[in-house]
Amino acid sequence: MQHVVIPDIGAAQIWREKARGFLASGIAPDQILWGEVSSDADLFATQPPAHKQGTITVPRSFVALANTVVWHNDPERFARLYAFLWRLRTAPHLMSDRGDSDLARLRNMEKNVRRCQHKMKAFVRFREIGCESDKRRSFAAWFEPTHHTVEPTAQFFVKRFADMDWRIVTPHVSAIFEQGRLSFVTGQPKPDLPDDASEDLWITYFRNIFNPARLKVQAMQSEMPKKYWKNLPEAASIPDLIANAPTRARQMAESAPTLPPKRMAQVQAQLAACTSAWKGPEGALEKDIAACTRCPLHRSATQAVLGEGPKDASLMVVGEQPGDMEDLHGKPFIGPAGQLFDDVAAAASLDRTSTYITNAVKHFKFQAKGRRRIHQRPDADEIAHCKWWLDAEVDQVKPELIVAMGATAAQALTGNGASILSRRGQIEHTATGQPVLVTLHPAYLLRQPDAQRRSEAKDLLLNDLEVATRFL
Ligand code: URA
Repeated sequence: MQHVVIPDIGAAQIWREKARGFLASGIAPDQILWGEVSSDADLFATQPPAHKQGTITVPRSFVALANTVVWHNDPERFARLYAFLWRLRTAPHLMSDRGDSDLARLRNMEKNVRRCQHKMKAFVRFREIGCESDKRRSFAAWFEPTHHTVEPTAQFFVKRFADMDWRIVTPHVSAIFEQGRLSFVTGQPKPDLPDDASEDLWITYFRNIFNPARLKVQAMQSEMPKKYWKNLPEAASIPDLIANAPTRARQMAESAPTLPPKRMAQVQAQLAACTSAWKGPEGALEKDIAACTRCPLHRSATQAVLGEGPKDASLMVVGEQPGDMEDLHGKPFIGPAGQLFDDVAAAASLDRTSTYITNAVKHFKFQAKGRRRIHQRPDADEIAHCKWWLDAEVDQVKPELIVAMGATAAQALTGNGASILSRRGQIEHTATGQPVLVTLHPAYLLRQPDAQRRSEAKDLLLNDLEVATRFL
């Protein structure tokens, strides 16, 4: 039988070395008695056989698991780890076997240690104990961790408090950081630490960040378990804060809202500038649209295509975006879809010259394929950016009726992006109440696969444009 005693300090490395030695020599778990000791005297009752380098392969995931579990307070932890390691020799897949009860127990122990480390990071409270050297201030803390977490957590404090000397004293092991060097010594009883001048400030801060309207006692106690309270100066305030929470929450609800900070006004102004309407000087709208860079579409398009027609038209017709021809010539609805629109409009007795015609998006969006530019539908963002201009046009023309041709125009004008086929022929409204007659886009007619369907779609558009003419 082998007897091994692992000390509190350096346990991870020592256990690892010993376990490797036993494993390499084929010593089964039931042949080893693992023990713990709080000093490095009497370290190894039996010297385990030295292992030959390079003969053992252990999954990395196990090494990580073991490096945490060794700090658990279960006296059986070393034996449990070794027993599992022994099984891993012949069943390397075990590390991913979620049904394995040994692994489940080790994982649970790992979780407990991690939780304890987390609590240590949150609940260690240092007090200044005077300057031992001229340059560095010196602090000490008393902490009672559930597991042996001082050693694996010390680096967190090293990073955070690198410019001071400190020590964290616990019953098992104490960490000492002096002149930039970290060391560990055997634990000590609770030291008599002086009151800290900054403690009152900290308690005041704690009382102030406590929100009585959000009190959840259970959640609070799970986050800050009671066993830590005795070493937390702020914890003395907790019973009082809990008891007075309902009264304070009621008072908060009854009192007037506090004024938003100055910065809030700035944020609101910026927000308003993004969402508010165009407010340029009279006659500047077209120039501003022509210079638009509100979205990336301006980069590849030839030019912004402006609306066309009388500025006091009673009818406004809105399409989607300029096509290839419109982009090159800078005029709306002059390509194939525009010609079809002219035909149907004429049949509906709608006079294009007295109509203001524009698009929801002012720049041509396309994908280049060789020498061809293939139309791309504008996305919601592009439609939203260009709505700034469309709203300004509507505001300037003040039409009695707007005809939205196709889904993009309908979405920009009504905010509703639903399918046109179920909505066409009906009057909807803009956010400011102007009537919008929703209809098909002439390009939809062109996309129909046969003459029959094209003719049916054309009748629908004709019908809707007749409604528009009658409306006026
Ligand atoms: N399609 C549109 O929606 N608008 C145009 O100007 C041309 C084609």
